[in-house]
Amino acid sequence: MELPFSESYRIKMVETIKKSTRKEREAWMKEAKYNLFKLKSDYVFIDLLTDSGTGAMSDKQWSEMMLGDESYAGARSYFKMKSAIKDILGFDYFLPTHQGRAAENVLFSTLVKEGDIIPGNAHFDTTKGHIEFRKAVALDCTIDEANDTQLEHPFKGNLDLHKLEEALKNNPIEKIPMIIVTVTCNTSGGQPVSMENMKGVKALADKYGTKVMYDSARFAENAYFIKLREKGYENKSIREIVKEMYSYADMMTMSSKKDAIVNMGGFTAMKEEEIFRKASTFNIMFEGYLTYGGMSGRDMNALAQGLYEGTEFEYLETRIKQVEYLGKKLDEYGIKYQRPVGGHAIFVDAKQVLPNVPREEFPAQTLGVELYLEAGIRGVEIGAILADRDPVTRENRYPELEMLRLAIPRRTYTNNHMDVIAAALKNVADRSNEIKRGYKITWEAPIMRHFTVELDKA
Ligand code: F0G
Repeated sequence: MELPFSESYRIKMVETIKKSTRKEREAWMKEAKYNLFKLKSDYVFIDLLTDSGTGAMSDKQWSEMMLGDESYAGARSYFKMKSAIKDILGFDYFLPTHQGRAAENVLFSTLVKEGDIIPGNAHFDTTKGHIEFRKAVALDCTIDEANDTQLEHPFKGNLDLHKLEEALKNNPIEKIPMIIVTVTCNTSGGQPVSMENMKGVKALADKYGTKVMYDSARFAENAYFIKLREKGYENKSIREIVKEMYSYADMMTMSSKKDAIVNMGGFTAMKEEEIFRKASTFNIMFEGYLTYGGMSGRDMNALAQGLYEGTEFEYLETRIKQVEYLGKKLDEYGIKYQRPVGGHAIFVDAKQVLPNVPREEFPAQTLGVELYLEAGIRGVEIGAILADRDPVTRENRYPELEMLRLAIPRRTYTNNHMDVIAAALKNVADRSNEIKRGYKITWEAPIMRHFTVELDKA
């Protein structure tokens, strides 16, 4: 008999999570103005709001925490992180920051100015926020296939090289300081970018004279998909694939709270010394001195260790197979999501699950609230609320996809939890005929409104 798959780790420490009643959850949800970010985590049973900073660190990472060097300048921990970045990603220069968006702030302060255009594949919200805050434009060049949730495509995170070339051809190149490739592409469903596409982007960047930056939060998951899905990579190790990926990049930002499996941390890295020198000033101003940036020595140690663990095949296989397990359960129950299953999350197609809720009443948000009320499970809206208003016209932007993201924290929940999530979604889907109304906004911030938006029943 073939042995079934099982996790490549065992559990050494546990944390209690609490169940609640539907009546309690109704009161808490109302109090939170129907914004899942505003719920106390104690009111949540299974927390799928994000896979960012919510993973379980290993025994080795905790050991590294004890070895942290907290010196202001020249700390050993800085050199440990530097050596891991060079070893795994191949970059000579880097600046530690407190998280991913801080890395964006430092790098974009160096390179992005008013009127610039930054093409990319479905920029993440803080990335777009940092671009638009500087009065520049984040131009989405993702392939159209990403908008059809039921279409099976191995690399839905790919950039459409034709769209990209049009942008490069039709604008003065000095207005395009970089192309951003997000690996894996969070916004389009945790979908990977192929090596071929990365090569193509680099070739276009070279042809027109601009640079390539990788938004690298989930770079290792991207490498895993290349190994499994792209011809010629099946026998390469994850680290070999990662090295090749980054041979086509000039710079990177990384939220290390994802694939480096730490609770806090990030960095920007670059190949050119001149960019490093310019960015260093902003790092000192916004984050901290060059050898700690926004991080404690102990966190830099855990991050360095996490980069090694996060690029081990057995770990990645365990992780992605759990997301796939949830996907298979949803298939059984006929619940539609972005196919194929992404790296870090399942993106449930809210328009298909709740077809009666009008887009102006935010179907994905409505599904998020319903799932919470059903079982205390917290997801996050990736739809019109997240898409914000157009910075110029101030009209609501309605993206093609209205999705509820169920992000799976790393090494945290078991497949029994996955079973509960799937059953709860099925219960909501079974009631979809009764769910005809969604929510209306009663207060919103001028940018990145989804974090703090206040809603009421429509
Ligand atoms: N880029 C991507 C692709 C991300 O997914 C994130 C964060 C960031 C940049 C910013 O990093 O949070 O460390 O400042 N994503 C989290 C999420 C918040 O839930 O997907 P950060």
